[in-house]
Amino acid sequence: MCGIIGYLGSHEAAPFLVEALKRLEYRGYDSAGIATINNGKLERRRAVGKLVNLSDLLVHDPLRGKSGIGHTRWATHGEPSTRNAHPHQAGPVAVVHNGIIENYQDFRAELAEQGIGFDTDTDTETIALMVRHYMDQGDSPRAAVARILTRLEGAYGLLFLFDGEEDLLIAARKGSPLAVGHGDGENYVGSDAIALAPLTDRITYLEEGDMAIVTRSSIEIRDANGEQVHREMRKIHMDAARVDKAGHKHFMAKEIAEQPQVIGDAISHYFGSGTDLHLPGDGIDFNGISRMILVACGTAYYACLTAKYWIEKLAGIPVEVDVASEFRYREPPVGEDAIALFVSQSGETADTLAALRYCAGKARTILSVVNVPESSIARESDLALPILAGTEIGVASTKAFSCQLTVLLIVALEAARQRGRLDADRQAEIVTALRGLPARLNLALDTEAITERLSQELAEAQDVLFLGRGQMYPLALEGALKLKEISYIHAEAYASGELKHGPIALIDQNVPVVVMAPRDPLFDKTVSNMQEVMARGGKVLLISDKAGIEAAGDGIWRSIEMPVVEDLLCPILYAIPAQLLAYHTAVAKGTDVDQPRNLAKSVTVE
Ligand code: F6R
Repeated sequence: MCGIIGYLGSHEAAPFLVEALKRLEYRGYDSAGIATINNGKLERRRAVGKLVNLSDLLVHDPLRGKSGIGHTRWATHGEPSTRNAHPHQAGPVAVVHNGIIENYQDFRAELAEQGIGFDTDTDTETIALMVRHYMDQGDSPRAAVARILTRLEGAYGLLFLFDGEEDLLIAARKGSPLAVGHGDGENYVGSDAIALAPLTDRITYLEEGDMAIVTRSSIEIRDANGEQVHREMRKIHMDAARVDKAGHKHFMAKEIAEQPQVIGDAISHYFGSGTDLHLPGDGIDFNGISRMILVACGTAYYACLTAKYWIEKLAGIPVEVDVASEFRYREPPVGEDAIALFVSQSGETADTLAALRYCAGKARTILSVVNVPESSIARESDLALPILAGTEIGVASTKAFSCQLTVLLIVALEAARQRGRLDADRQAEIVTALRGLPARLNLALDTEAITERLSQELAEAQDVLFLGRGQMYPLALEGALKLKEISYIHAEAYASGELKHGPIALIDQNVPVVVMAPRDPLFDKTVSNMQEVMARGGKVLLISDKAGIEAAGDGIWRSIEMPVVEDLLCPILYAIPAQLLAYHTAVAKGTDVDQPRNLAKSVTVE
């Protein structure tokens, strides 16, 4: 979603701001803009579309000044257009905003009563207008911002710049993350560490309700009550925030290729060199609970659906899985005998965070599985389990998904062990299989050339179906999501056994059916389902191991052969061909793979 950067330095701000916005491109956006103070006056440049349009504009119409703010906008209120792009300005006030102001119509009414008109359709413009209004009444910039913050409802990360105030940035956060970067004689503000990465490795994350008054030589932070507070400065690992494609054409390709490495790292993190689990803190007590509630959005939701198969089978704990946006408003009962587990790559997804807050104080334990350890979801959990995927830039989640699966399987194993359902031999067998997984993932990556060829044919399709049974069903859902989000081909997934209850009506020679089916105990059932498809002229693309492809017999349209792994690990391994199929189909179609249309990386609005 939207990205924010602020710069108070000794160099020209515009090039720094544009570079930082480039690093934030991965979050998804549809317009961008910057404002600086030039000779004491605010000036703005804004452009719709990709950042290159803003850069072009700046070549023809440069912006001078050593203080500035910048923004990439993912439209919520009002179409993507130059007029609606941030920064928004009202007289001496310029502001950039991430999030949604829910009561902005109240401000519009209030401002309209005073005869004040609007240049944009956005909620953000009303903030600039209100701050100007308070300054017209005699408030200082700082007092005016503090005053409007007490009235804002909704979510925001805000950054202000003022006419005549070349040494002042005011930042505020509620619901949308913001970080202040510490420099030498310079200071910065960013919506995430990546924005700030090359500028500094010293970062202070603002907490809910904080307002920061930043100059080149000082950073003062006040909490929601206006009290000055100390927030810890952390040193971030520049490696983790490094943003380069390492020779790949797209971030998504790089991130798919990184999976053997990062999954190997996660396995070593949790098992060390032995077979005993090392969970952080006091660990989790899985005894005496009657159920687990797993909540997430999108790809992370599919990871939870997979975990349901594992936790129920291995640990015997009933698991409910919910989409966060549904869960939070359904007001489901959450007893003290439940563990609530939230899965999120970014750790900032608004719906998942709201669902977590709903469960806090009700469930026995709030557990999270996250990629960003400093994120809100991690911080508000009793225990946050890192997935250690490293920075994921491609909007379509790949390595975060497989690392989420890996950590969720480890959770299932720990639950099973504690409940006496996993003996040491079986545990050692599974851990050994896990340790061998990176090598298998490398073999799966070796299918890339064949997958790329197949994708040329898949790119011709208008619709694609994905089928899976048992623990492979959520992976079929994920395969379909990956394909539709980056190639824009309509794709649906079904549990193989459900096909004949309706979706089989869609089958004809134009609808490829991707079947994810290792040669496991359910395989024969899936073969019957494939026969049903083929009998109706359907084209089956089977992803299976050697034995599975042989057993499926003639009539298969195409196949991709996977190495053999322990059954439990198949969803992790088979994620690779699902991702590669989507990736190469999107490349064949020429879509914007890393920043697909309409999508944002970190969804911080409801
Ligand atoms: C799809 C994708 C999204 C995210 C979802 C949740 O490829 O990435 O569906 O999985 O928006 O995001 P997080 O995991 O950050 O909560």
